[in-house]
Amino acid sequence: MLQRWSASDFAKNGRFIHDMAGPIFALLAPKPGERILDLGCGDGTLTAEIEAAGADVLGIDASEELLAVARMKGLSVKKIDAHALDYVQEFDAVFSNAALHWMQAPDLVIEGVARALRPGGRFVGELGGHGNVAAIATAIRAVVKARGGDPEHAVRWYFPTMEEYGALLSAHGFAVREMALIPRSTPLKADMQGWLGTFCRFFFDQFEEPERSAVLAEVLELLKPSLCDTEGRWTVNHIRLRFSAERSPGE
Ligand code: BEZ
Repeated sequence: MLQRWSASDFAKNGRFIHDMAGPIFALLAPKPGERILDLGCGDGTLTAEIEAAGADVLGIDASEELLAVARMKGLSVKKIDAHALDYVQEFDAVFSNAALHWMQAPDLVIEGVARALRPGGRFVGELGGHGNVAAIATAIRAVVKARGGDPEHAVRWYFPTMEEYGALLSAHGFAVREMALIPRSTPLKADMQGWLGTFCRFFFDQFEEPERSAVLAEVLELLKPSLCDTEGRWTVNHIRLRFSAERSPGE
């Protein structure tokens, strides 16, 4: 169940990701001349802001379709699986916004980030924390279960607790400087169908039509009482896990 991305759907339904990024960008505080890796850069919206701050930034992502948009912005980007980083002490900072929760082996990712950073370098990121988009994840599991499938493997996001992620960072030699779990309700500019079609494509793509539309309708029906108001406005309940950690200066 691989997640595939459509650049146009992402631009339309993923705006909230950029809109929520102010605090994590402030935490990164990129400085002119710094070499920064943007891990999971997507279409490069924030990569461009890091570059505008004067840093020398490289964006990496697994989606060729999103990278093509970043390239059109003139950004330096590469298609690299974040589980297989092979940089050694090359970056002053590694930054990641709304990407780490798509990566299934966080241990491998953090190991590669630690290797890629210079001693004393910083890892600054934000991902979905425990309980993120819980109603949506639960609705998907319920529909899978009702159809005789295995709800355990229906949802592929990684939404850790602070304790869990903090322990992983420490195990790889990071000193955690800041960490917080931040609940945030995000009103959708488009509708829930667009959000599901963009961010849960890994799930819906396993069904052929007309079953795909029927499954989508079932998920929407389950979500509507909790996430749609009487005016038809949809909201997604995010919980962000935001952190800043420093690689040990000694190695
Ligand atoms: C998030 O940014 O929290 C998120 C986005 C898409 C799917 C799941 C989580």
